Amino acid sequence: MKAEERAGEPRRTNLSSAVTAGTGVERGVWAAPGRVNLIGEHTDYCDGFVLPFALPQRTVVTAERLGRPEWSVTSTLTGETVTFDLSEPVTGWAAYVAAVVWALRDAGHDVPGARLHVDSDVPGGAGLSSSAALECAVLSALADLGGLDIPLAHRPKLAQRAENEYVGVPCGIMDQSASTLCREGHALFLDCRTMATEHVPLDLAGQGLAILVIDSRAPHQLADGEYAARRAACERAAALLGLPALRDAALADLSRLDDPLLVRRARHVVTENARVLETIALLREGRLREIGPLMTASHASMRDDFEITVPEVDEAVETALAAGAYGARMTGGGFGGCVLALVEAEKLDAVAEAVHTAFATRGFRPRPPSPPSRPRRPPPILKGRAPS
Ligand code: GLA
Repeated sequence: MKAEERAGEPRRTNLSSAVTAGTGVERGVWAAPGRVNLIGEHTDYCDGFVLPFALPQRTVVTAERLGRPEWSVTSTLTGETVTFDLSEPVTGWAAYVAAVVWALRDAGHDVPGARLHVDSDVPGGAGLSSSAALECAVLSALADLGGLDIPLAHRPKLAQRAENEYVGVPCGIMDQSASTLCREGHALFLDCRTMATEHVPLDLAGQGLAILVIDSRAPHQLADGEYAARRAACERAAALLGLPALRDAALADLSRLDDPLLVRRARHVVTENARVLETIALLREGRLREIGPLMTASHASMRDDFEITVPEVDEAVETALAAGAYGARMTGGGFGGCVLALVEAEKLDAVAEAVHTAFATRGFRPRPPSPPSRPRRPPPILKGRAPS
């Protein structure tokens, strides 16, 4: 990783130069994208490596400052308005907004009251990080409304803390980092221990390739205990091995674990970290097609060792491969959500059609495949507008 790309030295080119500490803007529009993870699943909370890229789909927050410590948030998706002042716990989708207010305050920031309006085309419940997109867009809005001086590099941890502590989902740092830091045409190589970043070129179209994102429509729910159980197993395995995290484990270490379940969980993390590094080495050399087998091996590891796949995503992967994909894997936390398939651009429709046919045969119901994904820069954190 290049020293200048360390997260401690953030670029702030997206931020309004008009916003300086203590003098926020009155109102504005901010946005943050969803993500897919190319490879590196359930490695983030093991201090490991991930490689997400931003989606074109994003959450947009229109906000204006209020003169009192109260937040009122309306969602286009639900039509609801929720008003809170943090004296009572907030639940449901608005909890993600309240969580950001809470985390900013808890970090010592003087968060301005605000009226916010949320709209989004990031599909919810599909493992595409709709929660992080909401958190990150709200965080940017409140930071600029309040003139809070929060470097971009510090924002993912704040948003993660909001989700961990307030919402109660023990997620890692990947999604909030992707939503905040990804750049157009690149995947984000993130070392989740040091938070060092490298923007790795991912020119799919330039090589005649595309990534098909298939929403399996199988329910995906991080808060249901399975995610937390995987995280706890990884932490237990590391503790038994006497290591700070599974990032520090080698395959040979795993023979020191007695519990076969912990061996499987740890083996997924150790091999997945290695696959991320191999993927990056190939991407740096422009050998995009060759990452396919690593994607497929990642899926097998999630299926057999980490045990987080479901029949719908396994079917989508197998069908995509049989239809000519170079590689395919589930992306995100697991138990449903989306599958990525790396395909020749000209085969995209044929692979999508094959998955539809296979799902119809099995009685599964996928959502229509999304348009081919190209890595996209998170939409600029749009300038807050001065009062007119
Ligand atoms: C979810 C979490 C992330 C990460 C992935 C699995 O998306 O929010 O932190 O753990 O699952 O890689």
